[in-house]
Amino acid sequence: MDQSRVLRFIGQVETCRVVLLMVLVVAFVSGLQYFELSPVLLSIVSPGNSTISEFRKSNDTTKSAENETFLASQEASTGLKPYNRTTEVLKSSEHKFLDDSHKIEASGQRRRSNETASSLHPLQPKIPQIRKKYPHRSITKPPSIVISIKQMNNMILKRHNDPKNSLAPLWGSKVDQELKTARDKIKKAALVKKDDTLYAPLYHNISIFKRSYELMEQTLKVYVYSEGDRPIFHQPEAIMEGIYASEGWFMKLMESSHRFLTKDPTKAHLFYIPFSSRILQQKLYVHDSHSRNNLVKYLGNYIDLIASNYPSWNRTCGSDHFFTACHDWAPTETRGPYINCIRALCNADVGIDFVVGKDVSLPETKVSSLQNPNGKIGGSRPSKRTILAFFAGSLHGYVRPILLNQWSSRPEQDMKIFNRIDHKSYIRYMKRSRFCVCAKGYEVNSPRVVESILYGCVPVIISDNFVPPFLEILNWESFAVFVPEKEIPNLRKILISIPVRRYVEMQKRVLKVQKHFMWHDGEPVRYDIFHMILHSVWYNRVFQTF
Ligand SMILES: *[C@@H]1O[C@H](CO)[C@@H](O)[C@H](O)[C@H]1NC(C)=O
Ligand SMILES: *[C@@H]1O[C@H](CO)[C@@H](O)[C@H](O)[C@H]1NC(C)=O
Ligand SMILES: *[C@@H]1O[C@H](CO)[C@@H](O)[C@H](O)[C@H]1NC(C)=O
Ligand SMILES: *[C@@H]1O[C@H](CO)[C@@H](O)[C@H](O)[C@H]1NC(C)=O
Ligand SMILES: *[C@@H]1O[C@H](CO)[C@@H](O)[C@H](O)[C@H]1NC(C)=O
Ligand SMILES: *[C@@H]1O[C@H](CO)[C@@H](O)[C@H](O)[C@H]1NC(C)=O
Ligand SMILES: *[C@@H]1O[C@H](CO)[C@@H](O)[C@H](O)[C@H]1NC(C)=O
Repeated sequence: MDQSRVLRFIGQVETCRVVLLMVLVVAFVSGLQYFELSPVLLSIVSPGNSTISEFRKSNDTTKSAENETFLASQEASTGLKPYNRTTEVLKSSEHKFLDDSHKIEASGQRRRSNETASSLHPLQPKIPQIRKKYPHRSITKPPSIVISIKQMNNMILKRHNDPKNSLAPLWGSKVDQELKTARDKIKKAALVKKDDTLYAPLYHNISIFKRSYELMEQTLKVYVYSEGDRPIFHQPEAIMEGIYASEGWFMKLMESSHRFLTKDPTKAHLFYIPFSSRILQQKLYVHDSHSRNNLVKYLGNYIDLIASNYPSWNRTCGSDHFFTACHDWAPTETRGPYINCIRALCNADVGIDFVVGKDVSLPETKVSSLQNPNGKIGGSRPSKRTILAFFAGSLHGYVRPILLNQWSSRPEQDMKIFNRIDHKSYIRYMKRSRFCVCAKGYEVNSPRVVESILYGCVPVIISDNFVPPFLEILNWESFAVFVPEKEIPNLRKILISIPVRRYVEMQKRVLKVQKHFMWHDGEPVRYDIFHMILHSVWYNRVFQTF
């Protein structure tokens, strides 16, 4: 790294340091409280004590290692933080297809650097030191920590109800005030019992969702940076089909939105960074190079450009910026300067560094035809669904071999668990099965989740730590089944234990939720997938405007 760059970086950190330290510490503390990490002892600063929060290790290594992992993933995620570009390089061995370890040791130094910890304002505590940045993640082994969907829901509530959200906006601008007003109005949402367009049982709280959505329509303005070279930036046409299509569809609809765009950055509540993670990989990854450093650098350079041209980046350290990225590598590629952004990721793995309540789970939608992005949706009524459970797919990752070993050659005829099959049969099975198994591949996400929904099949998610899309709003357990990976041997037992009446209700909800997962070419439609993605970004922003 050349010297001028380092200096520039230091300056940048300077700009938002005070804010960022406050945020980090408060978030860190509340994160710990939430997880009640009793053995990992902590003495937290009281206001006015310039000395330190301390981070001690329990003597029980297994436990504390796990807890620390968990903690690190949470802490790493909380709020604003600077980064050290030079440490933000991925090791060559981290290339997923060549090395199963798939881990990131990068940036371990990040917050220990002198820029962040020394010469603090006397009232600012030091930043707690975290030894391990991100949990190691193996694609051949289950995660060491499994976070249930209930825990994820609680984590969102916790984060969004953080007391610092009731403080006055930090930057005191008009847009911040507007966000605060929106937040207050959402909290006081009028009670909605029944609604013509929204089916109440699908949501955690339909009143809140309806109000938040209305306010988004009335208020939200998004600024899209014009910088960025094609095709990695600004070229959605190149990525409208296939399993990464959601980033392309979102980009296309966002860049052509009539309602939400503003040309004036001072009026923007959110800033959109219009790149494609898939094209980045296609254009810049050097086959067999085992290195993604140049991809990370390319994205980093873009932020340098933005930060030097617009005050918006330095103002919030990027926390009112967002992007959508569906490629598997996107989470690790966006840990540098992008870590504070609201990251809409298909690979939404809460066991690594996805932060529920900040980041957004981007639905992975497999688009086979531009003209018909949602495929031939439909399927049999419950009484005609004669197959109990269906899965088909290549043996990626560690879960699917277990699934197939257990279930592909069993006498039970109602379990249709296959290796790859042809696409036509695949669709036919989805339309005739009661439950469709969405099992983790190399990564937590799978296009099967949205496919199941569109074919009226109740999704059975077997992917520990996968954060399902729109979890901020949707009560996923009301229309999907979550089976922990370790329960695969009990899969059939779990499914047949669901009473028919419950199943019929769930299937009805699956049909009701379909509209939230459908693309519309031309003008997007209210409550469709485009608006739902944007809503999740909006909602997470509104509830953490610190
Ligand atoms: C943002 O911070 C960087 C690093 O200190 C600086 O180079 C840049 O000029 C700042 N941007 C603006 C618009 O002031
Ligand atoms: C500040 O923390 C130090 C070390 O933990 C402690 O000795 C001291 O009493 C604290 N001061 C106040 C005002 O809390
Ligand atoms: C861990 O600490 C507890 C008390 O805090 C002690 O009883 C126990 O023996 C210690 N275990 C080890 C392995 O040191
Ligand atoms: C963290 O430590 C606590 C206290 O020992 C324990 O109850 C909890 O299960 C640990 N968390 C994890 C995820 O291992
Ligand atoms: C970043 O980290 C590298 C390697 O650890 C170190 O040499 C450099 O001084 C650091 N720069 C900043 C700005 O912290
Ligand atoms: C950090 O600060 C300490 C004390 O102020 C100093 O001794 C050390 O050399 C500094 N480290 C770096 C990397 O600048
Ligand atoms: C939904 O939110 C509204 C507004 O905060 C609240 O009055 C209502 O009690 C909530 N409903 C449920 C079912 O939690």
